Amino acid sequence: MAENTRTVTCEAPVNIAVIKYWGKSNEELIIPLNDSISVTLSTEHLRARTTIRSNSGSREITFSLDGKEEVLTKRFLRAVELCRAEAKRQNTSTAEELAQGLSIVSENNFPTAAGLASSAAGFACLVTALKHYYRITGDVSGIVRQGSGSACRSVFGGFVRWLKGTAPDGSDSIAQQVKPASHWPEMRVLILVVSDHKKETSSTHGMKTTAETSRLLKYRADVLVPQRCAEMTAAITAKNFAEFAEITMRDSNQFHAVCLDTYPPIFYLNSVSQAIIEMVHIYNQYKGTPTVAYSFDAGPNAFLFTLEDNVNEVAGLISATFSEMIDFRGLPLQPIRTEASLADRL
Ligand code: DP6
Repeated sequence: MAENTRTVTCEAPVNIAVIKYWGKSNEELIIPLNDSISVTLSTEHLRARTTIRSNSGSREITFSLDGKEEVLTKRFLRAVELCRAEAKRQNTSTAEELAQGLSIVSENNFPTAAGLASSAAGFACLVTALKHYYRITGDVSGIVRQGSGSACRSVFGGFVRWLKGTAPDGSDSIAQQVKPASHWPEMRVLILVVSDHKKETSSTHGMKTTAETSRLLKYRADVLVPQRCAEMTAAITAKNFAEFAEITMRDSNQFHAVCLDTYPPIFYLNSVSQAIIEMVHIYNQYKGTPTVAYSFDAGPNAFLFTLEDNVNEVAGLISATFSEMIDFRGLPLQPIRTEASLADRL
């Protein structure tokens, strides 16, 4: 039989949660304790790119990330296995194709594992590339989820909700688009890289400790997040930025409060992150309405949401405020992009 020498290349963007995922009800299947909502960025600025080639005459799978050969993790191999099983079920690839080895090459155009959701873009990209490689049809967010939970939201553009679902096997824990990016084209994200070092407590480990030790997390997941998801969906639908901003900031703060309620506590924010939070509140007070919103993931870097009209003013404020602080505290704060416009994908 002729060798399959296909090559597939895909790009996937980062997504930023405005209602955070933190805690699993099933560690193995990566089923979350609560729904989450995110905004997908454009692939122009922060993206993973993955190329898959058949490994001629070999059964071996090799993977390199940013030019470095990587050891295949359990989650990585599981993503490949799940895609192969789905292709077999859909009968979209031959047995020979499914058994053939793969050379998988990925690169990120931003620092990996620095709290910029690199694993989200990475797994979404890997599974989407495998989807095309094996000619699978339909939604693969359930497979992406099992690589890294938050990654399943990167499968769609615009505003996305990841449903925790109710099925014990996780089959209905999938991502759904709330609104495409074209619904709110004025939305912008400014990313402030406070530190590009690898984070000390990984999200996977951190959320496991939180789920085991924080009572606040249970109340958040069972009571507060369901209310908040409904409010956030309504704010996005109505393009109500003031509401969107307040819910985003409150949810980021609550996520970090839950980290602090973890025993021993987890600190992801540093003094620069705190200064950014203060700056945003002062600015919003001056504007008379929430005009900028911050959100922080498992790291000190800030994601600032604002509307197109305010981008220049906010970028000016940041450089004016932080140039002095960098000298004073000796901490690097570099906006790697002052503007990342959203774009529809898929
Ligand atoms: C703070 O998706 O990285 O960014 O499912 O264990 O891979 P695993 O965790 P991961 O956690 C992301 C947590 C977060 C919030 C969010 O993106 O919703």
